Amino acid sequence: MSDGTTNDKPVLTTRQGHPVHNNQSQRTVGPRGPATLENYQFLEKISHFDRERIPERVVHARGFVAHGEFEAYGTIGSEPAATYTRAKLFQTKGKKTPLSIRFSTVAGGRDSSEVARDPRGFAVKLRTEDGNWDLVGNNLPVFFIRDAIKFPDLIHSQKPDPVTFRQEPNRIFDFISMSPEAMHMVTWVWSPRGIPANYRHQDGFGVNTYRMVNARGEGVLVKYHWKTQQGIESLTQSQAEVIQAKDLGSASKDLYTAIERGDFPKWELCVQIMSDEEHPELDFDPLDDTKIWPEDHFPLRPVGMMTLNRNVDNFFAESEQIAFGTGVLVDGLDFSDDKMLVGRTFSYSDTQRHRVGSNYLQLPVNKPVVPTHTNQRDGQMAYGVDEDAGNGHINYEPSSIAGLREADASYQDYRPYIEGQLIKGENRAGERLRSGRRPLPDDAGLGARGFDSQSCLCVRAVRAANSGANDRPSQQM
Ligand code: HEM
Repeated sequence: MSDGTTNDKPVLTTRQGHPVHNNQSQRTVGPRGPATLENYQFLEKISHFDRERIPERVVHARGFVAHGEFEAYGTIGSEPAATYTRAKLFQTKGKKTPLSIRFSTVAGGRDSSEVARDPRGFAVKLRTEDGNWDLVGNNLPVFFIRDAIKFPDLIHSQKPDPVTFRQEPNRIFDFISMSPEAMHMVTWVWSPRGIPANYRHQDGFGVNTYRMVNARGEGVLVKYHWKTQQGIESLTQSQAEVIQAKDLGSASKDLYTAIERGDFPKWELCVQIMSDEEHPELDFDPLDDTKIWPEDHFPLRPVGMMTLNRNVDNFFAESEQIAFGTGVLVDGLDFSDDKMLVGRTFSYSDTQRHRVGSNYLQLPVNKPVVPTHTNQRDGQMAYGVDEDAGNGHINYEPSSIAGLREADASYQDYRPYIEGQLIKGENRAGERLRSGRRPLPDDAGLGARGFDSQSCLCVRAVRAANSGANDRPSQQM
C-alpha cells in the first residue's frame, strides 16, 4: 500500500472487481526478478494502457467540448416558428434543449496549435424530445469545395506531405489554384478572421443549405448562423506565434476557464430562408456552399439562444468519443439537394464506425435523451441491448407475436418533385462563378454586396491587409 492513503477513499480494483493490494510492484521471483507472466493485474493495466488511443479524427482532430442549452424564442424572426418548421425544439418561447458543442481546428493533429490559420469547427448536438439534431458547421460562412468527391483531395493537400510529413504551403496552393471555387473561402482564411482569438469570440455557420418543413408538409431552404454574443476577436499572425510558442491549447483553456468562472458564452441562432426552387434570378446557386446568401435580401431571423454552462468531466469520453453527423436531423428539419450534404452524411457515420466503433451511438455522450427502440443488435463492444418492447426473441419487424411497430402515419413528408438527367463531369466547379454577375431583379447594387455584405468581411479584410492592419499572410492553414 502506498503512503498517504486514507481509509475513506474508495478501494482501487481491477476491471473484474478484484481489490488491488499492491499497485507499485509487479509479482517477481525474489526481489530482483524475473517477473512472472500470470500477474493478471499487471497484464490488465498495461494492455489497457496499450490501447488508450483511438484513431484521431481524419480532420478536426484537435478540439474541445462544452455542454449547455438552447432556449427557443418560439418565433423565426417576427413569425411563429411553426410557419416554417414543425421541429418541436423551436415551437415554444422559453423551451430549453440540452446540447453539447465541439469546437475544433481542421488540419492539425490531436495535439496541434489552437491558433493556427485554419477554419474552426463548430459542431452542435441538440438533444431534443424527437432525438438528436446535429448541426455540424464551421466559423466561416462558406467552404473550399462544392462537390463532396473533392474532399479527400482538399484534405490531402492540407495535411502533412506523405514524404516529408510537413504541412507544405505549395501543396495547399497547388490544389487551390486548380480549384477556382475555393477562392471565396481562401479570402476568408487569409483575412483577419483566419485566426480566431479563441472559440468564444467567433460566429458559427451551418454552411450547407438545409430545409425546414412545416406541419402542412411545406418546405423552405434554410441556412443557419450562430452569432457570438461575446463579439468577434481575431489574432494577427505574430500574436498567434507568440501564443503557440508557449501554449498549444490556448482556445480550449480559454473556454474551460470562462465556464469554470461562471462567464457562460452565448450564441444567438439565426436562419436565412429562401423558397425551395432553383432561383434562376440569382447569380449564384443557393445550394452552392462556396457562396453566401446576401443578408440584405435574405435577412438573418433570430430563432433562439445557446448558452454553454458546463465543462466536460472527462476529455476522452466526451470530446474524443462524441460523434456528429449531418444526417442527424429531427422531424421538421431536412436535407436539401446540396450535394455536399450527401457526401458529408455518408462520411461522418462511416468514419465514426471505424474511429469509435460500430456501437458508438450507445455511448453516453452520443445517446439521445429519448429511449431508442431498434432491432440493431450485437457488433463490437455492444454496451447493452436497445429496448425491444419486452420480448427479447423478436428482434425483427413486422411480427405478429410482439416487438416494435412503425411510428404513426400522421408524419407528413415533404415531397419535392425532382427530375433531371443523370450526369457526371458537367457543370464543373467555377463556371457559374466566372460567368459574370447579374443583379437581383429588385436591386441593381447587388454586384458589390455579393462580396461585401454584413456577414462577409472579405473586401474589408483585403483592404485591411493592404493597409497593414493585418500581418503577412500565414504559410499555415
Ligand atoms: C464533403 C465534404 C466533407 C466531408 C466528406 C467531411 C468529412 C468529415 C469527417 C470524416 C470528419 C471526422 C468526423 C469524426 O471523426 O467524427 C469531419 C469532421 C468535421 N467536419 Fe467535415 N467534412 C466535409 C465538409 C465539411 C464542411 C463543409 C464543414 C463545415 C460546414 C465541416 C465541418 C466539420 C466539423 C465541425 C467536424 C468536426 C466534428 C467534431 O467536432 O467531432 N465538414 N468531417
